Amino acid sequence: TTALPYANGPVHIGHLAGVYIPADTYVRYLRMKGAEVLFVGGSDEHGVPITIKAEKEGCTPQDIVDRYHELIKKSFEELGISYNIYSRTTSKMHAATASEFFQKLYNEGKFIERESEQYFDPERQKFLSDRYIVGTCPKCGAEGAYGDQCEKCGSSLSPDELINPHSQLSGAALVKKMTKHWYLPLDQYEPWLHEWILEGHKEWKTNVYGQVKSWLAAGLQPRAVTRDLDWGVPVPIKGAEGKVLYVWFDAPIGYISNTKELCEKTGDNWERWWKDSDTKMVHFIGKDNIVFHCIIFPCMLKAYGDGYIVPENVPANEFLNLENDKISTSRNWAVWLHEYLQEFPGKQDVLRYVLTANAPETKDNNFTWKDYQDRNNNELLSIFGNFVNRTIVLTHKYYNGVVPALENLTEADQAVVKEMNAFPEQVGTSIETYRFREALSELMNLARLGNRYLTENEPWKVFKTDPERVKTVMALSLQIVAKLAILAEPFLPFSAQKLQAMIGLTNNSWDTTKETVLLPSGHVIGQAELLFEKVEDSVVESQLKKLNDTKKANELNAWTPLPIKEQVTFDDFQKMDIRVGTVLECTKVPKADKLLQFLIEDGMNQRTIVSGIAKYYPNPEELVGKQVCFIANFEPRKLKGVVSEGMILSAEDREGRLVLITPSQLVAPGCNVG
Ligand code: 2FM
Ligand code: ZN
Repeated sequence: TTALPYANGPVHIGHLAGVYIPADTYVRYLRMKGAEVLFVGGSDEHGVPITIKAEKEGCTPQDIVDRYHELIKKSFEELGISYNIYSRTTSKMHAATASEFFQKLYNEGKFIERESEQYFDPERQKFLSDRYIVGTCPKCGAEGAYGDQCEKCGSSLSPDELINPHSQLSGAALVKKMTKHWYLPLDQYEPWLHEWILEGHKEWKTNVYGQVKSWLAAGLQPRAVTRDLDWGVPVPIKGAEGKVLYVWFDAPIGYISNTKELCEKTGDNWERWWKDSDTKMVHFIGKDNIVFHCIIFPCMLKAYGDGYIVPENVPANEFLNLENDKISTSRNWAVWLHEYLQEFPGKQDVLRYVLTANAPETKDNNFTWKDYQDRNNNELLSIFGNFVNRTIVLTHKYYNGVVPALENLTEADQAVVKEMNAFPEQVGTSIETYRFREALSELMNLARLGNRYLTENEPWKVFKTDPERVKTVMALSLQIVAKLAILAEPFLPFSAQKLQAMIGLTNNSWDTTKETVLLPSGHVIGQAELLFEKVEDSVVESQLKKLNDTKKANELNAWTPLPIKEQVTFDDFQKMDIRVGTVLECTKVPKADKLLQFLIEDGMNQRTIVSGIAKYYPNPEELVGKQVCFIANFEPRKLKGVVSEGMILSAEDREGRLVLITPSQLVAPGCNVG
């Protein structure tokens, strides 16, 4: 399984490096080993942030998740993340599964019921989650701090600490009201968790093991698994109207629902994936999800019983930074997958390569565009691509593409054979132990071995003097190419498949690569095609410029633009007659410090328009000769004794400064804008 991404925004390189690429590498490898694999993903479509986003955009939460689910699903497909199923937590199957899960635990008395006082919005008649409660920060005095955090000073808060807490929805002052919730008593599972993880899984990654250990050392508390909210899976018991399952209760059940959904389609038995002691479940996640996948979800499964297995491993990764700064959705500091796919068509493998080579496996890591370029140019292109290309081109040059027999090996050749045959095992072991960076660097060592072998044997020189020897050299080089073509597939699926097709390999099974000869003598290979191409400096520069623009925009836009107004139709828009005019005269209106009086050439006549921008244009005469946009059919109005025949358009920035809107080139006065 891979963590279900929240469907309230697109996926970025941090998600990919931490979760989706390692998971895909792992399952591709397993499939090539002949293992029976089910790779389950999906979108996490519940939770408060989605409702807040909908509220802001004036649409429904369903609209939001529909939009992002499609975007995320499509971009995963394009990147080659090879899910067996990618579904969503708003599916029918999920509602039924999550609901039944809760119901059984409830019936069997596995929850604790507790009443507590919570903040209630008397106007909207609902309980508010922390994010919906705003007030004055007790630490720094900032207005508009949230019930869980002050964004000004970064302190984490609880709603009770806020001064003057009120509802973000209605602005109303809040009251406290009693409400009932159900809690999973995690403390009761402590001895089991201790034995299962701390005793039984010492091999887990140290970052994961360490986190579990410190959670257990601190002691676990009962966790509420329901919320007062109207977006989510309804709590399926009497008296719980208006309550839904907590998003972190329903989301991991999504792994089960999605398995069921798939098995229903394929006629498979879903239970064998979840309740068979031979099944090995692995959760790929980021470090912020460790407690949910190592403690809470396993406790849920344990509480449910009925043969449910718990994960064999949870190889969580740390975080990836971007150009030495924390990736941030709200600051748009990210490389978004859907944008990358658009801007770098056909270069999925380059991103996969760089993010694996640089994966935050043991500590936070940094992505830079310079490193992207270097790894592409100096590794993929110079080492992998170059070796493959030289070998294929020479085979065509000397033998019309026919593979020579691998015979007459020297002692040195035999050492190379031995060395190359060790790679499948080495790379495989690294993958099986979730050390993907190491696995990838091993793979590149195989390409390095090939390059070194060619360079040392110089077939292009030897061909004239000892053509027999060159047959051996080329035959052996071709076997290395073939091994690379297969072993690269989990990491670089597009290039590997292209290369396999190029050299006519039809079997990609991992274990066949342990054999020396994959391309028998007499086999004919196809023409060389380029696998990778150079990344130019200009590409790096333009990506850096894009990020820099983001940074500048962030500095400027530390404010929120006004909400989007009610939708208008094309007809509504057509009603406004917007035109360009040339300023003939511009003067201050006497006794009105805000107003400027314009005389505008509108193509047919001259008209007077008064505009409230005097403060921002202290030298109005400088506007003479400039072009402005104005609404030509605006109802005439008298302002300070002057009749204004239209309205001049200007932009209002965050400080309330008004800036005239001007066409980017001179146009004939009277032109329509639209
Ligand atoms: O952290 C997140 O993005 C969550 N949406 C992950 C959920 S994983 C699972 F439990 F579904
Ligand atoms: Zn604060």
